[in-house]
Amino acid sequence: MKTHKIAVIGGDGTGPEVVREALKVLDAAASKFNFKLETTPYDLGGERYLRTGEALPDSVVAELRQFPAILLGAIGHPEVKPGILEKGILLRLRFELEQYINLRPVKLYDERYCPLKGKGPADIDFVVVRENNEGLYTGSGGFVFKGTPNEIAVQESINTRRGVERCLRYAFEFTRKRNRARKLTLCGKTNVLTYAFDLWERAFHEIGQKDFPDIQRDYAHVDATTMWFVKNPEWFDVIVTDNMFGDIITDLGAMIQGGMGIAAGGNLNPQGTSMFEPIGGSAPKYTGKGVINPLAAICAGQMLLDFLGESAAALAIESAVIRAVREKLKDLAAGKMGYSTAQVGDLVVAAL
Ligand code: IPM
Ligand code: MN
Repeated sequence: MKTHKIAVIGGDGTGPEVVREALKVLDAAASKFNFKLETTPYDLGGERYLRTGEALPDSVVAELRQFPAILLGAIGHPEVKPGILEKGILLRLRFELEQYINLRPVKLYDERYCPLKGKGPADIDFVVVRENNEGLYTGSGGFVFKGTPNEIAVQESINTRRGVERCLRYAFEFTRKRNRARKLTLCGKTNVLTYAFDLWERAFHEIGQKDFPDIQRDYAHVDATTMWFVKNPEWFDVIVTDNMFGDIITDLGAMIQGGMGIAAGGNLNPQGTSMFEPIGGSAPKYTGKGVINPLAAICAGQMLLDFLGESAAALAIESAVIRAVREKLKDLAAGKMGYSTAQVGDLVVAAL
C-alpha cells in the first residue's frame, strides 16, 4: 500500500479546528482508495511565537523540506503585530521552499451561495495562477529619513525573467491539462507598470507563440479583471498574474464562489514541497466555537491529494463536498451552516 507522509501545521485561531476536519476526510479517502497517510504535526503560529519568541526555527524548515506536502490551517494572532507571523512563517515557507505558484481555483458549487445575480455554477469555474515568490512580496525596499517630515518609503516589485517565465510556463501547461476553453488570460497593468508588466507581457507572448500555440492568449488589466469577475466571470478559464494582483483578485474570486468558507489554494513547488491552505485567515472571533466552515480546508486537502497523484480520491472528495453543499448546508458562512464544524466534516465523510 502506498504511504504519503505529510506535515500538518494547524496554526492559529480556527486553523486547528478546520485542519482536524480536513484530516478526517483525508483519512476516509485514504481507506476508500487504498493508500495511507502518515501525518506529522508541527506546532507553529502565534502561540508558539509568544511563548518562545521564535516564529519558525531553521531546523523546522529543514524538516519540512523532507515532505512532499504540507497542510496548513491559518496563520495570524491578535496579540502579535501584523506582519511578523505572516512574513516569519507563511511567506518564509513560500519563499524558502520555492513554492513559486499559488494555485487558486474559483468554482461555484451551488447557485445559492453566489452573490452575483443571474450567475450559476456554469458561469463561475476558473483558476487563478498567482506568482508566489516575487513581486511586491520579497520585502525589497526600505525607508529613508524615517520618522521625519522628509520620510521616504520604497517598496519594490521584483520581477525576474526566470521567475516570470516559470510561472507563465506553469500556467500554460495547466491550461492545456485542464483542457476547458484552453484560454489563458494575463492579468496585469501594462498601462502604468510599464517595466514589470512589459516583461510579463513580452514573456507571455513569446512563450505562448513558441511553445503553446494551442492555447488562446488574452490580456486584461487588473482593474478591468475585477469588473469582469462580477459582470462576466464566465469569460475566464485560467488567469495568470503577479503576486500582489493575485492576492487581491482571489479574495474577490473567493466571494463569487461562495466566500472564505469554501475557498482553498495551493502553494506549489512542482519539484519540491508544496503547501495547501484555506485562503481565509485565523478568524479569532470564531475560535473554539465549532462554527467555522471547514470546507475550505477540506478542499485544500483535496488539492493536496491531487498533487500527490491521488487524483481519484481528490475527485471523490470534490463530489462529496458538492453533495454536502447542495443537499445539506444552509449557508457557507461561519455560524450559519446549520451544522457545526465537526458535523460538516462528518457530512463530507458520509457523502464520500
Ligand atoms: C493570502 C494572504 C497572505 C498573502 C497574507 C496573510 C500574507 O492574504 O494567502 O492571500 O498576502 O499572500
Ligand atoms: Mn490574500
